[in-house]
Amino acid sequence: MKVTLDDIRNRESRHLLQTYKRQPVAFVRGRGARLYDVDGREYLDFVSGIGVASLGHAHPGLTAAIADQAATLLHTSNLYYHRYQAEAAVRLAQLSGLPRTFFCNSGAEAVEACLKFARRYWYTQGATERTGFVALEGAFAGRTLGALSVTHSEQYRAPFGPLVGPVTFIDPLKPETLAAALTDRTAAIIAEPILGEGGIRPMSPQFAAAINDACARTGTLYIADEVQTGLGRTGYPFYGQALGLRPDLMSVGKALGGGVPIGAALVSERVAQAVSPGDHGSTHGGNLLGTRAAAFVLDQLMGGLIDHVRTVGIHFERRLRALALRHPSIVEVRGIGLMRGLELSMDATTVVDTARDRGLLVNRTDEKVVRLLPPLNIEATDIDRAVDMLDGVFAALRSEVQV
Ligand SMILES: Cc1ncc(COP(=O)(O)O)c(C=O)c1O
Repeated sequence: MKVTLDDIRNRESRHLLQTYKRQPVAFVRGRGARLYDVDGREYLDFVSGIGVASLGHAHPGLTAAIADQAATLLHTSNLYYHRYQAEAAVRLAQLSGLPRTFFCNSGAEAVEACLKFARRYWYTQGATERTGFVALEGAFAGRTLGALSVTHSEQYRAPFGPLVGPVTFIDPLKPETLAAALTDRTAAIIAEPILGEGGIRPMSPQFAAAINDACARTGTLYIADEVQTGLGRTGYPFYGQALGLRPDLMSVGKALGGGVPIGAALVSERVAQAVSPGDHGSTHGGNLLGTRAAAFVLDQLMGGLIDHVRTVGIHFERRLRALALRHPSIVEVRGIGLMRGLELSMDATTVVDTARDRGLLVNRTDEKVVRLLPPLNIEATDIDRAVDMLDGVFAALRSEVQV
């Protein structure tokens, strides 16, 4: 029997904890950059499950690897060895320069692990007072208590205090304030190289230099939150590399499993030396399915996918800048590679809704920003199609306003 959107909505409204405000569509299958809903309608997907489906949907190679693993062995726990954690970790080390990996199941868990490992580092040094963090205004790091503590939005934080602290937030547009925010109690600075949920706002080279200087001067650790910017999304393995950042720790997630839940904390050797068995752990973390998927995704990235992002990313930017010239409601085009934001003069909700009605999925973030995160293997023809559809959306909205 066919399930309808109304059936699903009714059942969810009675039985799911209402933590999400969903859009009125239910998907049943996907292929590449296309999704299909319960009525068989096709959508061009420029959200990718919020930067997760980096190889698109139902990628044949990833599907085969997952299916083979599911039919062989899914999970044994971290009591025993299996081959895939090391296979994924070797590739992460090659891409990031950080030699050691801890596997978990999500971006928030990866951030959580980094915060813990930073504190553990100072504890091992005997500097037990170095427990604080400096984070960015506009940062989003996840919703577990530690990750929430370095997330800036008061709306997310207020109902859940007291949070982990002390945390000092500074304005990413004022690099000169960083030095003063650091004290002899600061364990680490945590910062996304591009604020993702915060509206696709790239860190300035001046701010990156301020982080490098401050860390070199005070020994403070730098945690790069690359959950959204990492793994090829910007045309670099990690966007901090483009800025010359030198992280001691890095959180990754989202795209790592191409849709299979997995996150990771990557650490330098000096931080790794401070961590002992039992300090951290996860029952599911590093299971065979997730790490096999991750090894597959990482192979794709290293096998030319990042170069592809760079090439189509330039085309995407050109098309978006031309779009902005045609529509005055687009006040700024930001981002790099396949991580793009259009800042509007109005709330972005109407654009998201109108685009979806016309068969294009885009996402709203920071109220006025349309966020575009297509699969990394998107073709230029689909970029053209998406931008043409957005052109139609903005034109329709303009004529509505004029009526
Ligand atoms: C930069 C950043 N860090 C952490 C997270 C949390 O990841 P997750 O939702 O997988 O827990 C996100 C999610 O959007 C993110 O964008």
